[in-house]
Amino acid sequence: MSGLSTPSALLQASPAIVVGSGLAGLSAASQLIFHHVPVVMLDRAPKPGGNSIKASSGINGAPTRFQPCDTEDTAFYTDTVVSAGRPLSSSTSTERLRREQLIATLTQSSPSAVYWLTDDNAIDLSKVAQLGGHSHPRTHRGAGKKPPGSAIITTLLDSLTRDPLFELRTQAKVTKVLREADEVTGVEYKSPGTDPNATTRLSGPVVFATGGFAGDAQGMMMRYRPDLAGLPSTNDAREGSQPLLEQVGAAVVDMDQVQVHPTGFVDPADPAAPVKFLAAEALRGEGGILLLEDGKRFANELGNREQVTNALMKAASRLETPTRQWEVTLLLDEGAATALAAHLEFYVWKGLMRKTTVGELGKTGCQTVCQTVQEYADAAAGRTEDAFGRKAFGNWSLGDVQSDSVVYVGKVTPVTHFTMGGVVFNEYSQVLDQSGGVIRGLWAAGEVTGGLHGQNRLGGSSLLECVVFGRIAGNAAAAFHQKHYKTVP
Ligand code: FAD
Ligand code: SIN
Repeated sequence: MSGLSTPSALLQASPAIVVGSGLAGLSAASQLIFHHVPVVMLDRAPKPGGNSIKASSGINGAPTRFQPCDTEDTAFYTDTVVSAGRPLSSSTSTERLRREQLIATLTQSSPSAVYWLTDDNAIDLSKVAQLGGHSHPRTHRGAGKKPPGSAIITTLLDSLTRDPLFELRTQAKVTKVLREADEVTGVEYKSPGTDPNATTRLSGPVVFATGGFAGDAQGMMMRYRPDLAGLPSTNDAREGSQPLLEQVGAAVVDMDQVQVHPTGFVDPADPAAPVKFLAAEALRGEGGILLLEDGKRFANELGNREQVTNALMKAASRLETPTRQWEVTLLLDEGAATALAAHLEFYVWKGLMRKTTVGELGKTGCQTVCQTVQEYADAAAGRTEDAFGRKAFGNWSLGDVQSDSVVYVGKVTPVTHFTMGGVVFNEYSQVLDQSGGVIRGLWAAGEVTGGLHGQNRLGGSSLLECVVFGRIAGNAAAAFHQKHYKTVP
């Protein structure tokens, strides 16, 4: 089977093609539909939403009316530059400019990205937490029960699927991007069916939003970061799709920059599971701390992910499990737990966290744990400086620590979480080749792209990049479609 696919009369004119149904793809598709361009969205998975639907802490935006402070200025830009580290600071001047323009676009567009979700799409993002590496609280989530990823994805998807110009094809794995001369002209994809070699060909401008490769443990992770083999992951197993774009000339960058998130839950019912539920960074952002086996802290829990993970791997004991894991406890008081009541309810129901008392935690009674928690409580109350330099304590409220003080705890370990590397792109979401030239007819957005975050992505900035660069890609693909392809009558 081959040839142009014609699912409905409306889509007989070449559609714009969006590959990937995570937040980057849905943001691009929303803009295409806004401009009345028909869209066919292809996703290899049986269900839409990608890793985006699992997002648990929220989306960054600064300044916004939801933030509890108004002192942002250019702090979000600066925090992102600092977090990007060496890949940014040591690059050539042209490359440095490209990366700085990406960061400027990301951070300056962040208020409108949040308002697009809250005001245009009626998604509640009224709660704001401070995550690691951020100098201000700027990660937005809703006040209700739904985690932010699920709330955002289901709302955008519902709105798109009501539109007759939109069609989603699941279990449609893109296997080839088509290029004629200097222009991308469509894709080929495979669906489950009788002939495993059969492909369907679709023509149109292409937005690539296929996500990262942290779930490609045996393939791209082995190729670019064999030293991380054996670590569990938050990402479901799936191949990375960057090679499909390399085959049509796209350059890739920072492919060895892989984010290891310090806190994946160790499920007592399946401690060595290779795919783990994430212990959302908001748990630390709202006040949570990390304890070693001996009841002591080892780091500022709101350092960036790279810093916390490195400190954890150095200080904590390794476990004897088939997956590479460490022994660390995440602890929240009732103030932090109440601020994240819906998350806590879910984690407790899943058996990943439990309610207990400080006194029950220490192997030798309350002594060390009580002392550690009291020292932290003193810093949170402003009575002392925190021993690890922590400045933000979220909603931690426990002041006088007793052995019967109620806390919530769970075991956590580092997990591969996000890939900073990907295809080289510019602030217009255009994909670039080895010599910096634009590949016409092709745009990319979200985790499939590389270079924006350098060596460490700040928590909350991935959903943000999906919205910012996804919408830019959708607008640009719409303009291209209107100019070069037949429009719908
Ligand atoms: P995805 O959402 O992963 O979507 C990509 C889609 O492309 C998938 O559905 C996939 O099936 C499809 N696809 C891939 N290859 C092909 C192909 N060849 N053909 C067809 N389809 C294909 N970030 C934040 O900013 N805030 C958070 O709170 C947050 N929490 C997170 C929690 C978890 C557990 C995880 C795993 C990640 C979290 N992240 C968070 C990171 C963020 O969710 C992802 O980086 C981001 O959502 C990626 O979006 P995307 O649209 O680029 O890709
Ligand atoms: C988390 O909830 O810790 C994930 C946030 C992110 O990856 O941005």
